[in-house]
Amino acid sequence: MKLISKILETPEWTKEKIVSLLTLSEEIEINELYKAAEQCRNIHIGNNVYFRGLIEYSNRCSKNCFYCGIRAKNKNAFRYDVSDNEVIEAAEFAYKNNYASVVLQSGELSDKAFTSHISELIKKIHAATDHKLRITLSCGEQKEKVYQEWYDLGADRYLLRIEASNPALYEKIHPFNAKHSYQMRLQSLRILMKIGYQTGTGVMIGLPLQTIDDLASDLLFISNSGVHMVGMGPYIEHAETPLYKHHELLISPEKRVELSLKMIAILRLMRPSINIASTTALQTLDPMGREKGLRAGANVIMPNITPVRYKKDYDLYEGKPCLDDEPDECGTCLENRIKMAGCEVAYGNWGDSKEFSQ
Ligand code: 5AD
Ligand code: SF4
Ligand code: FES
Repeated sequence: MKLISKILETPEWTKEKIVSLLTLSEEIEINELYKAAEQCRNIHIGNNVYFRGLIEYSNRCSKNCFYCGIRAKNKNAFRYDVSDNEVIEAAEFAYKNNYASVVLQSGELSDKAFTSHISELIKKIHAATDHKLRITLSCGEQKEKVYQEWYDLGADRYLLRIEASNPALYEKIHPFNAKHSYQMRLQSLRILMKIGYQTGTGVMIGLPLQTIDDLASDLLFISNSGVHMVGMGPYIEHAETPLYKHHELLISPEKRVELSLKMIAILRLMRPSINIASTTALQTLDPMGREKGLRAGANVIMPNITPVRYKKDYDLYEGKPCLDDEPDECGTCLENRIKMAGCEVAYGNWGDSKEFSQ
């Protein structure tokens, strides 16, 4: 019997088993892992891919994560807020094209002007799209009161990556202060789930100073956390960030893609009906990265519908793709790519996680 089938024979997900899958090195075995995950997805939730139109609403941020190009201390980042009208137009584009769902993403600000503005945008998006779109927010850590207010206004999903589930690694990639506390991050995730959001988390893969053991723990953390959605992608360096000093420690882009695909595949096998995104970071390191993510068991794609003039300034990492492509160009391109990956776009379908019951 082939090694991979043998590993998958046992039902429990121990750390040792995850490590042995993450360290598979023979191409035949790795492909077998992806295939097993793809089949698992098709059996449990089918080959439908859900679109989430991503609006990169603002790159203003008060935090200083060591890996991120839009950190507050990066004075070379040109800061923007997408205007309300443009946010509404983007949401209308998503609605008319049957994306069924939008994500409003930004850096992390917690002043009242910012949080009230997000509240306004939730109301305006719902009013402009007949309350038919699912709205996901990805605006960082906020007070419970704020999360509750946004939920009550009709935001129903929230993305908050744990970034690295090992507190020691988390501390290495963030400043050591109350604003970047691992415990607060965990607490925020708990609050989001308590309020009733469909909650998503995830990690970066191939970070300098990260071990295979860390990644295996990340998968156990995600699987046990009770989240409904997951977005994980390769870490990509950015020259204007503190973590760049370790770039010589990085594994190659190809290896980071391979490791990310293994992570997706293993998570699919661990949690057969969870929503897993095939992320833009994958496409950044490999032109076929998102298709490969689908082939490894992912079922969500987030087409970027930010107005083109802002896209290059949402500069988390280097080499972001499609900077000059209009939303309709990316949409058509993605549809073809998704078909090539043996999947179908589930237009008009909210694509709630099967693990989420309201
Ligand atoms: N490489 C990959 N992903 C990154 N993010 C931020 N900076 C980077 C980077 N350099 C991810 C974080 C964050 C999400 C919005 O973008 O995981 O949660
Ligand atoms: Fe701000 Fe998010 Fe970047 Fe951290 S990862 S600096 S919170 S935008
Ligand atoms: Fe943007 Fe292909 S995904 S143009």
